[in-house]
Amino acid sequence: MTTDSVLSAPNIIDRFRLNGDVALVTGAAQGIGRGFAHALAEAGASVVVADQKLELASVVAKELEAKGAKSVALEVDVTSEASVESMVKAVINNFGKLDIGVNNVGIGQWLDGEDMPYADWLRMIDVNLNSVFLCCKAEARVMIPAGGGAIVNTASMSASISNTPQNQAHYNASKAGVLHLSRSLAGEWAPKGVRVNTISPGYTRTALVADLLETPIGKELLPKWLALTPMARMAEVSDLQGALIYLVSKASPFTTGSDLVIDGGYMVW
Ligand SMILES: NC(=O)c1ccc[n+]([C@@H]2O[C@H](COP(=O)([O-])OP(=O)(O)OC[C@H]3O[C@@H](n4cnc5c(N)ncnc54)[C@H](O)[C@@H]3O)[C@@H](O)[C@H]2O)c1
Repeated sequence: MTTDSVLSAPNIIDRFRLNGDVALVTGAAQGIGRGFAHALAEAGASVVVADQKLELASVVAKELEAKGAKSVALEVDVTSEASVESMVKAVINNFGKLDIGVNNVGIGQWLDGEDMPYADWLRMIDVNLNSVFLCCKAEARVMIPAGGGAIVNTASMSASISNTPQNQAHYNASKAGVLHLSRSLAGEWAPKGVRVNTISPGYTRTALVADLLETPIGKELLPKWLALTPMARMAEVSDLQGALIYLVSKASPFTTGSDLVIDGGYMVW
């Protein structure tokens, strides 16, 4: 006789709770990563706030503690294998395990392809793509022996579309790499208990975009972006939080290799 999973599964709201879980978020000192760290803490997880900006990361860790969560701030350069490995070691030293890895660091830049210095291309791929490989590897090496875990990498709608009118081929390529790396690792690590998914935001109001919007071309862009977005606004960081909790919780046990696009409908046109 088969069991009725609908009747035997825990309450659906309880499946979203992360009490007892330990989470690591990179790029968590500000912006989307800070929003992810808050969501994980509110859902019950202990959260390691990792960033190259230690002072700001410490402020975020204090915000999480004020909400009743355990939290530690760590300085990391996600482009350095040694730094990433010591970050994961520090998570284990502080909390004894790692259940959730959120690899979220990314930088943006607008440059025309024919004028793009090779150094800028290399830096983009290093910060946005190579770092995700380094973090996934270091996280999986502690998750697999422990029986599993959940990894979410921040990609972008730019992984699947080419933004317009600004040119950013290196950014788009780096995010397409994040998407396919994540799918590849999802297939590889499914039998080992590690799920790997991506969140792909559309234009989101954070420092990364605010700085670019201050440039002369940036000022002309906002109305064009909004005209291309069915919901006619940018995302707020809070718009992305629910997706993360779904992907790292027991509400999504059969979800791996998925890309959750949160773009106000941008990709439907
Ligand atoms: N804001 C958007 O519109 C948007 C849209 C789609 C995807 N994304 C992606 O979301 C992620 C977060 O973006 P955001 O808008 O919050 O950016 P942000 O610039 O506000 O925050 C990025 C954080 O990463 C940290 N960081 C940068 N390089 C680092 C390094 N080498 N080591 C450690 N930390 C480093 C920064 O200190 C910063 O705290 C990025 O991957 C970005 O590509 C953003």
